Amino acid sequence: MRPRVVILISGGGSNMVTLVRDMQAGGYADPVLVLANRADAGGLAKAAELGVETALIESRPYKGDREAFEAALTERLASANPDIICFAGFMRVLTEGFIRRWQGKMLNIHPSLLPLYKGLHTHQRALDDGVMVHGCSVHEVSAELDGGTILGQAVVPVLAGDTPDTLAARVLGVEHQLYPAVLRKFVTGDRTPTAIFGTDI
Ligand code: GRF
Repeated sequence: MRPRVVILISGGGSNMVTLVRDMQAGGYADPVLVLANRADAGGLAKAAELGVETALIESRPYKGDREAFEAALTERLASANPDIICFAGFMRVLTEGFIRRWQGKMLNIHPSLLPLYKGLHTHQRALDDGVMVHGCSVHEVSAELDGGTILGQAVVPVLAGDTPDTLAARVLGVEHQLYPAVLRKFVTGDRTPTAIFGTDI
């Protein structure tokens, strides 16, 4: 039986598309559901085009009642019976209870070289600091925000004249290499680190 993978998104879903395509091409896992918390998440239509079931559980109506939102989320997730949950640009902070429920099954991609730049605005913060390399990390989701075990990182150069947008685009390019590479290993229980060095390093 192939592992069942659910992908959670909030936006355009380019990482989700790369994961789904990689699973469909490699046949190592089944993308059983793409779930968004925003009706305007462009990734929902892309997932449907790829033949993946979609679901929408809007967080906004729950207005700060995180536990009620997560109860709805958990119910839908449980019915999909996932072996692995991939967060791919899912912009919600999760409670400890939710994380405990799915512990050991959750991966997230974060656009920085963790433990640097946890949280938001990672590209701007990297530019403000004048760092010369930047990148992304895939990590297990734990109770500490962006603090779970790091399973893979991809590094890109910061170039003269970069803006947050140009840097974000360069990082996104390697996110699309890193996330499927880590997932392919994770489905076999392999948690050894994956490192990718983008061009020009
Ligand atoms: C990615 O940069 C991801 O690392 C971040 O949000 C972005 C999502 O992009 N958390 P997409 O929706 O996968 O295109």
